Amino acid sequence: MTAETGKPLFPGGLSARLLVLTVVFVMLSVVLIFVPSVSRFRLGYLEDHIDAAQLAISALEVTPDNMVSKELTNELLDHVGAHGIVVHTPDRTLMLSPDMPPSVDATYDLRSQGMLAMIGDAMMTLSMHGNRVLRVLGVAPKDPSVTVEVLLDEQPMRAEMWEFGARVLEVSLVVSLITGALVYLTLQWLLVAPLKRLTASMVAFRKDPEDAAHAETPGGRGDEIGLAQRELAAMQETVRQALKQKERLAALGAAVNKINHDLRGILSTVRLMSDRLSESDSPEVKRVTPGLIAAIDRAVALCTGTLNFTRQDGAKLNPSFFALRGLIAEIGENVAPAANGNGFKLVNEVPEDFTVQADRDQLFRALENLTRNAAEAGARRCLFRARRAGKGAVIEVSDDGPGLAPKARENLFRPFAGSARPGGTGLGLAIAREVMRAHGGDIQLKSSTGTGTVFALTLP
Ligand SMILES: Nc1ncnc2c1ncn2[C@@H]1O[C@H](COP(=O)(O)OP(=O)(O)OP(=O)(O)O)[C@@H](O)[C@H]1O
Ligand SMILES: [Mg+2]
Repeated sequence: MTAETGKPLFPGGLSARLLVLTVVFVMLSVVLIFVPSVSRFRLGYLEDHIDAAQLAISALEVTPDNMVSKELTNELLDHVGAHGIVVHTPDRTLMLSPDMPPSVDATYDLRSQGMLAMIGDAMMTLSMHGNRVLRVLGVAPKDPSVTVEVLLDEQPMRAEMWEFGARVLEVSLVVSLITGALVYLTLQWLLVAPLKRLTASMVAFRKDPEDAAHAETPGGRGDEIGLAQRELAAMQETVRQALKQKERLAALGAAVNKINHDLRGILSTVRLMSDRLSESDSPEVKRVTPGLIAAIDRAVALCTGTLNFTRQDGAKLNPSFFALRGLIAEIGENVAPAANGNGFKLVNEVPEDFTVQADRDQLFRALENLTRNAAEAGARRCLFRARRAGKGAVIEVSDDGPGLAPKARENLFRPFAGSARPGGTGLGLAIAREVMRAHGGDIQLKSSTGTGTVFALTLP
């Protein structure tokens, strides 16, 4: 079947090909039976004549001069069905021959004939027309030291061969047809019909994977077809479940997005109001306000991060050529002040003339996330380097922080799963990877020890 149209590749499909093959094999088996049988029959015919000839010649042995009358000669030759007979014994040669023996058209020596030559001669006899006079030489069946020679007409032999051949053809045709039909029907029942059901199920499934009505029902067969049926059924079930799950997740994602969006709005209002709280004269209020504001800020950041993450899904890239050094300097300006308490410093070792082709905003997001992570992990220094690799570029981000926590390492790049930091969402690295992969590149953790972490980002 072609995946596109579901039409069979060969007209009539598997059944038709099977039928044609069965017919061909039936014919072949008929030929295989016919040819050797007819050759064998011809050999028997000739041997019978040799036998009869030797018997006829024994009439000469009882006469004193090894001669008989003309009438008896003709009668004996008629009885054998031969034009002449010669018998060579070790000590003499006896002959039974009319006055004018016919001329010989072909000689066959049965003493030295192989199987293939015999078949060839038989086929030649069948294919010829008209009569030939054959000289046939053979060993006497009762005495191997005696050689018998007979002159025979070919025509009566051919007639008998055809008669026998027709009987063989009839029988072998009937037997082969019955066998062929049985094999054909068995294959239909065992293979073709189940395969047709399998393919129909696959085609129906491809058209509408969620419709369980066309699902493959696994039978109890213990052979390969049974295995294929069970595997297909299991695969369809898995895909169906995955599709359902995907649908549920999509619905859930949409709901989370909406809640997040609204929550961010509400939090902004709360943030505004709590700013006003800090102007309050009450010492108690003054004491709790900064903590409250920090908590609200974290909540806003969580909402924003989640929203950005879901929004980025499938977003189109907007690539341009730009100098990488400028972008990293900007990141430094953004991140360093926020982390200044640690004395954090961004070291930009990217050459001035190093340009890359990428979506500048997206790459900014990815690299900023890495820088922020380094600062948040307690690194004092985050170093950026870049080099060419073939047509693409490799950007290396290394810090002197404490290295990845086990939880972060085990869930590296998995959204919402890898955060090992209080207040962390676990999205930074996942976003970085998505951005890089959307560009056709990737991000990899090169090393992470107690004295620092190195990430390598590639751009094609
Ligand atoms: N350079 C680093 N050094 C040490 N640990 C790191 C470094 N980068 C990431 N991590 C660890 O990996 C975790 C996952 O980082 P990721 O950026 O994905 O999430 P997050 O920083 O916790 O949250 P988010 O970035 O979404 O606010 C972090 O919580 C941190 O423990
Ligand atoms: Mg982070």
